[in-house]
Amino acid sequence: MKELAGKHIVLGLSGGVACYKSAELCRALIKEGATVQVVMTEAAAQFITPVTMQALSNRPVYGSQWDAREANNMPHINLSREADAILIAPCSADFVARLAQGRADELLSLLCLARPQERVPLLLAPAMNREMWAHPATQRNLAQVAQDGATVLAVGNGDQACGETGDGRMLEPAELLEEVIAFFTPKLLAGQKVLVTAGPTFESIDPVRGITNHSSGKMGFAIARAAREAGAEVTLVAGPVHLPTPRGVQRINVRSAQEMLAAAEPRAQQATVFIATAAVADWRPATQADQKIKKDGSGQTPVLGFVENPDILATVAQSPRARAGSLFCVGFAAESHDLLAHASAKRERKGVPLLVGNIGPATFGQDDNALLLVDATGHRELPRASKRTLARQLVAEIATRLPGRHA
Ligand code: CTP
Repeated sequence: MKELAGKHIVLGLSGGVACYKSAELCRALIKEGATVQVVMTEAAAQFITPVTMQALSNRPVYGSQWDAREANNMPHINLSREADAILIAPCSADFVARLAQGRADELLSLLCLARPQERVPLLLAPAMNREMWAHPATQRNLAQVAQDGATVLAVGNGDQACGETGDGRMLEPAELLEEVIAFFTPKLLAGQKVLVTAGPTFESIDPVRGITNHSSGKMGFAIARAAREAGAEVTLVAGPVHLPTPRGVQRINVRSAQEMLAAAEPRAQQATVFIATAAVADWRPATQADQKIKKDGSGQTPVLGFVENPDILATVAQSPRARAGSLFCVGFAAESHDLLAHASAKRERKGVPLLVGNIGPATFGQDDNALLLVDATGHRELPRASKRTLARQLVAEIATRLPGRHA
């Protein structure tokens, strides 16, 4: 799935060492199906050559408002009218100041000023030294351009080319790509607060052993990402998995089912949607040894007793806010057979309006899956696709079911 298919992006480079990242960004945008027109300021061309950017974008680079290649000699009009978005990366402190003032004395700021504001969004990826970033003049200018309709992306924190450490680094190309994709995603969950549980839980037997399962967390992480892209404020309570946190998502790491409940229950009371994708261990060892259980040489195996774990989904679904309809709860069912029958029964048992069934062995650890959505009116299949695609479809399905929405 090419996520930016059909999108035309004007990628503007202003002067800064982060220009080296723009080459990678240009490739990443094109790989996702976008067409990219590069426009560079004179200062940007000190850091990376137009030849490189031309080769990567497969289009001549523009750098001057006097460029005679345009028949009408108006590159600022032609380039800005074609764009689905203008992304300035890197956006230097000087360039922010130019935008704040509405300057038009070189091509890049000129075309930003000349763009039809209502249909050509302007995204800025600031990049500068930490002192420049923190300076009141820069912050004032950023506030001004945001008020004028630009979307100011975050900056990274870390080592800077000047040898200092702090805020002001340009986001990495992969992060910027995620931001651009999120920007174009319809905001179906705007104003919603979504809580997601994901991954397995790990129930300790002793300090070095425990019981867990094959859940990879991929589906839950994909749902958290899709919900955030759809405009929700997202909290992700994650069992032990090694997956990167989706951009803009607040992640809370837990290990056991009890920890997951302790993290999820209070947060669910702030949420409007709860999506329980976690493969929570149904039982935990009745006792946890403080020290490693040793073989005693007799050949005798230890006998493990179990107690049942709390059911996080059922607990949240029975809370007054969920019962009053202010918190929409979605459960998952990992089954090995008879999916529809088990999923329907589980929906009733857990007391949730929507239950999503899947075949456990066919999904754990995989990048794709197939889902069966069961609600009070019947069931619907989401055929096999990547977890990313399914997550987006599920978010759209949830959005239509929220109070005040209609399918
Ligand atoms: N779940 C939960 N807490 C538990 C067990 C399950 O929150 N202790 C949630 C899961 O996140 C999922 C749903 O309940 O959304 C169903 O999980 P599943 O393991 O399929 O069902 P179980 O309730 O464990 O039922 P069974 O083992 O009988 O299939």
